[in-house]
Amino acid sequence: MSPFLRFSFYGVAVSFYFFSAFISMSTPSPEKRIEQLRKEIAEHDERYYRNAAPTISDFEYDLLKSELQALESAHPEFSRENSPTKIVGDDRSRGFEKFSHRVPMQSLDNTYSEGEFLDFCARLAKEIPADKMRFLVEPKIDGVSVSYTYENGKFVRALTRGNGVEGDDISRHVVNIAGVPAELKPIDGKPLPKIVEIRGEIYMRTDEFLRINAEREAEGLEPFANPRNLTAGTIKSQNPEESARRRLDTFVYGLGACEPAGTFATLSELREMLHAWGFPLTDFCGNALGGDVAMAKIRELGELRKNYPFPTDGAVVKLDSLALQRKLGEKSNAPRWAIAFKYAPEQAETTLRAITLQIGRTGKITPVAELEPVEVAGTTVSRATLHNEDEIARKDLRVGDRVIVEKAGEIIPQVVRFVPEKRKPDAEIFSFEKELKKLGIDAERPLRLIDPAKPEKGTERAVAWYLKEKDTPELRVRRLIYFSGKSCMDIPNLGESVATQLVERGFVKTPADLYALTFEQALSLEKFKEKSAKNLLDGIEASRSRELWRLINGLGIPGIGEEYAKILAKKFRSLTALKNATEEQVFDALIKGENSKGSVLVANILAFFEKEQNRALCDAFVSAGLNTEITSTGTDEPAGTEQIFEGKIFVLTGTLPTLKRDDAKKMIEARGGKVSGSVSKKTSCVLAGEEAGSKLDKARELGVEVIDEAEFLRRIGESASAPAATENSDSGELLLF
Ligand code: IVH
Repeated sequence: MSPFLRFSFYGVAVSFYFFSAFISMSTPSPEKRIEQLRKEIAEHDERYYRNAAPTISDFEYDLLKSELQALESAHPEFSRENSPTKIVGDDRSRGFEKFSHRVPMQSLDNTYSEGEFLDFCARLAKEIPADKMRFLVEPKIDGVSVSYTYENGKFVRALTRGNGVEGDDISRHVVNIAGVPAELKPIDGKPLPKIVEIRGEIYMRTDEFLRINAEREAEGLEPFANPRNLTAGTIKSQNPEESARRRLDTFVYGLGACEPAGTFATLSELREMLHAWGFPLTDFCGNALGGDVAMAKIRELGELRKNYPFPTDGAVVKLDSLALQRKLGEKSNAPRWAIAFKYAPEQAETTLRAITLQIGRTGKITPVAELEPVEVAGTTVSRATLHNEDEIARKDLRVGDRVIVEKAGEIIPQVVRFVPEKRKPDAEIFSFEKELKKLGIDAERPLRLIDPAKPEKGTERAVAWYLKEKDTPELRVRRLIYFSGKSCMDIPNLGESVATQLVERGFVKTPADLYALTFEQALSLEKFKEKSAKNLLDGIEASRSRELWRLINGLGIPGIGEEYAKILAKKFRSLTALKNATEEQVFDALIKGENSKGSVLVANILAFFEKEQNRALCDAFVSAGLNTEITSTGTDEPAGTEQIFEGKIFVLTGTLPTLKRDDAKKMIEARGGKVSGSVSKKTSCVLAGEEAGSKLDKARELGVEVIDEAEFLRRIGESASAPAATENSDSGELLLF
């Protein structure tokens, strides 16, 4: 399709596309542009699928992809097998066991235009008689694709799409997902499939997303951008406690492998069976004979979805008959028998009245767009985050501009761009630095090391500005709220109002002062009576014995959240040891722990403990009698377990005589080792049980040490008796890994 045709199809995209064409005055050659686009899209894929942190909207992303698609069709000589238009995005992450899909998981072609949708139907019409063109039209759930495998009715595992061929095993999350049956029961006497892969989506309801974000904001943490990212972050989190606190849901809609083949003839039949087995299905599933009826259903769904409690970004239209699906077949990354019709995000135009600066817990300064209130997708929008200085520059936003606002995932408002033809000639380029000066804010944009492992690579500027002075009353309040939050010391009743009063009255400067708060002081707080004062003090008292990682998390070191706090606690085992750690030790803990973000974090940790007031804070925690030494790292291992597997990477395979997978893994990790899903040259040792398959062969081939359970237990000095079963140990999939 030529770019010209695209203009007439894309509705809202038209002016956006013109605008990007307009700013890139010197048009690169098709070959160069294809190269640029491939690189750019691959980077966005990495951020979207692997890091769950995209930097552009889905709509902008789809535009890049369709530009690339158009160029590749026009210039087949530059077509490549590995172009992002031909492969599925890869969500595989480190630390997850990988399993192959029996039938690969694909992506879907998409369109925003009715014309293109009808083109799709016309292509199908060439191969299918009109009276057989029966479609299902379903909501496209904006979540993370999943495949649930059942063998003889028993749940075996849940996998992410991964690279389409193999995915990450996320089975342990399934207990937290409402509606995934542990077992399928035969319905109406029909035998259960021997093997069935059921395809669907894991998603987060909008109200749950808003709840989690409200909680984060109350703790001074950055909110998540949209429910899809939060879903991906939650299922890929290595922190089961955190995941368990977040509600996830699922819908199922499709089939992968199924034995015996021919169990289902249509998707409608499949849906009925899935419903009978107890899986959650979307209420809306339109039956449509032919493209025009399907289009009408798409429009109908476009209205209905505005009131859905879950995020949708389009409609999926697919042929109902599995035989016809097979007849049409598939391309490398998407079937020919289905298409996603995506609804362009609702947008509105308004005026950017001002750009204000908001200061967070760590002193980070975030620019905010103050907008003339405008209605977008059902609510009035008057503010939107602008993320950072670079983002304002990238979009060249200026105060007084008319701007286009949309809601990312229909929830969080974003300023997309300014309207060039409405810009006033005297509109001034926004200067962050000038603004800071005008407000009398003393701030810096710190330099950070790109990679301490390779200092020759130099430094770069952090994207955000930070206050230089880190001890303003506002920051003290933010820190106190964060310190008392659920993911840190979990002190109930210490919210915004109490924290503000404690700071304003001079009772508390640093979180350590909380532990010297008197009953009289608590009683003097607004609306406090004896009972509430006692409750507050009891909460503070109880927090003295919280786990070390919570205290480390509560320090508020930039970039150190729950997950890293646990790594540090486990490694250093006392606050004082962490405080006095050398660069090398911190580096070892984070980088050798195969932590890709480690480099920036090492710099942050060292900078934190260099500051005298932070060192004093740690000492004050020790003096106040807090638990500053390890009692538990979440592995329930006793304190002081010798780190005999420090730096070693284990692979577990086969059925062990007495140990369960989770338990063996915990035992290794508690002793400083890591467990990986696949054997490579880096593997230190394979712990093998019965029926150990290809992993054992690979280990032998590479000359990696192989031990059995008895030897493993001998090394850790334990006898062969299984430890108490863990929470998830009977979740089904225990034997082969
Ligand atoms: S059918 C790929 N139905 O959208 C084979 N997919 O962007 C056919 N999705 O990978 C998929 N809701 O994960 C289908 N009702 C629905 C869907 C749906 C969401 C996802 C799916 C796919 C992605 C493509």
